[in-house]
Amino acid sequence: MKINAISIDDEEINQLILTEIAKTVGIDLMGFLDPLIAAEYIKSFPVDLVYVDYMMPGMDGIEMIRHIRSYHPDVPIIMITTLGEDREIKLKAIEAGATEFLSKPIDTAEFTARTRNLIALRKAQLLLMDRALLLEEKVKEATRDIALREFETLSVMGRAAEYKDPETANHIVRVAHVSRLVARAMGLDDKQQELIYHAAPLHDVGKLGIPDSILLKPGGLTEEEFQKIKTHTGIGFNILKDSMSEFLLAGAQVALSHHERYSGSGYPLSLRGEEIPLFGRIVAIADSYDAMVTRRPYKEPWPVEKVTAIIREERGKQFDPGLVDVFLGIIDDIVKLYEQFRDEESEGKLQ
Ligand SMILES: [Fe+2]
Ligand SMILES: [Fe+2]
Repeated sequence: MKINAISIDDEEINQLILTEIAKTVGIDLMGFLDPLIAAEYIKSFPVDLVYVDYMMPGMDGIEMIRHIRSYHPDVPIIMITTLGEDREIKLKAIEAGATEFLSKPIDTAEFTARTRNLIALRKAQLLLMDRALLLEEKVKEATRDIALREFETLSVMGRAAEYKDPETANHIVRVAHVSRLVARAMGLDDKQQELIYHAAPLHDVGKLGIPDSILLKPGGLTEEEFQKIKTHTGIGFNILKDSMSEFLLAGAQVALSHHERYSGSGYPLSLRGEEIPLFGRIVAIADSYDAMVTRRPYKEPWPVEKVTAIIREERGKQFDPGLVDVFLGIIDDIVKLYEQFRDEESEGKLQ
């Protein structure tokens, strides 16, 4: 462990003596004759041990100690006083944060003993700091791991639902991305953006509870079957609602509300306007947009112009009018995102 020791003394001869004695305890002392230069140095470099003289032009030892303390609260500081300098100065130095005193002329034995002690103290300090940093890093790592695992579980749940109802490859991934883009454009904070990004893929989790005979039925559904399909909203909510995870709770909200319509004619609760949770309103647009611009078993992809015209037409009907404006305002970004997805899908990166 290298100890960065400095001495601040305006008299060259004192510097020379200190440097020589310091060598005997294995310290390579860096000397400053000008306290103002030393003061600058201290601001930006690490120091482990400081020797400081009392009487110096420009800045006395007490001021210097205060200055050092404001940048290095723990570093050992030895103040060197001339024999006979009064008690008051020493008291002030201690108040300012001096750790030890040595008197001039320097007694080599005393210097060596005190210096060794302070080096041991400094090494212990550095070790503790290292350990604290290491622990902090470990805690951060563990937290990151837990978060990653949670995200993994979330995406597995979304995928499970998708597997049952293979609307189109990576539907839920695209809905997650678009929902986050909209959230960002609305000015929601990073936390909310992340929340919707992980909650949106869960919107159709409730389809796990719908019989395949209905879910995968080719052709039209009877009224009764359609009523059954509608229950995927409540089922999804029930699957997720008791979780401790804020992501799953947001997912529960999205599952329940993504088929509500702004005008109040949606399901399951026929909520109207802002009664519909914001995340549900955002996912409703992202989900519909994706269904329209991608290929489905029953239709070809529709051109973006047609889709944006429909979304505009549904402003205030199916969709939140403010959100429609936000969505259309970032339509270029969304189109770009879909191009990116198409490239990645054709390269087989997204499965
Ligand atoms: Fe749905
Ligand atoms: Fe969907």
